[in-house]
Amino acid sequence: MRPKIIGIVGSPRDGNTKFLVSSALKECEKSGIDTELVHLGKMKISPCICCDKCRDEECCVIDDDFQKVAEKVIKADGIIIGSPVYFGGVSSQLKAFMDRTRYLRRKEALKDKVGGAISVGGSRNGGQEYVINQIHNFYLIHGMIVVGDEKTMHFGGIGWGRKEKDAEKDEIGIETAKNLGRHIASVVLKLRTARSHSHI
Ligand SMILES: Cc1cc2nc3c(=O)[nH]c(=O)nc-3n(C[C@H](O)[C@H](O)[C@H](O)COP(=O)(O)O)c2cc1C
Repeated sequence: MRPKIIGIVGSPRDGNTKFLVSSALKECEKSGIDTELVHLGKMKISPCICCDKCRDEECCVIDDDFQKVAEKVIKADGIIIGSPVYFGGVSSQLKAFMDRTRYLRRKEALKDKVGGAISVGGSRNGGQEYVINQIHNFYLIHGMIVVGDEKTMHFGGIGWGRKEKDAEKDEIGIETAKNLGRHIASVVLKLRTARSHSHI
């Protein structure tokens, strides 16, 4: 089976985050990796209510679109999560998704998968790095392997945009998103090779 990277768009609109996550996925495809885009803003994912049933049931008992995304993420080799900056943090759509994955952590279902992050803000320095840090923390708490953008060599894809299509003119943002895509692809492929040799 070919390796697969899932791109998760945490914005409610068809805008800058979707564009940059798609740009990163296109780079992954050039490396021979299958990709799929999941747009959380088009789905119904309720927030975690801390019922704690995931402790016994080993699943999230709230029945909505979350389960569909969880299945895709469990099967993927890598995940690229993108979020707009909302008040210096991730969107509520993305936070709801992240919190609902608590049971996956208990099962170590995402352990050793590769993760990268992209963020877009209406200001050039509007909190993108905080958002990326929040996504990285999510990956680390799941035991994942965190990668940033190669070549530009920072935290991941960092874009600017206020109106929906602004990021399409943001050359720096596009470059960092593509560099992230290529980097995550190369790490996924290297891990595949290493695992096939060591049978782990
Ligand atoms: C509720 C809300 C809060 C926002 N807070 C910030 C912020 O703290 N910093 C920033 O740079 N932009 C902020 N923005 C602007 C968005 O990050 C920006 O419009 C971004 O391009 C949206 O991405 P999208 O096109 O993928 O939806 C905020 C927008 C909204 C709706």
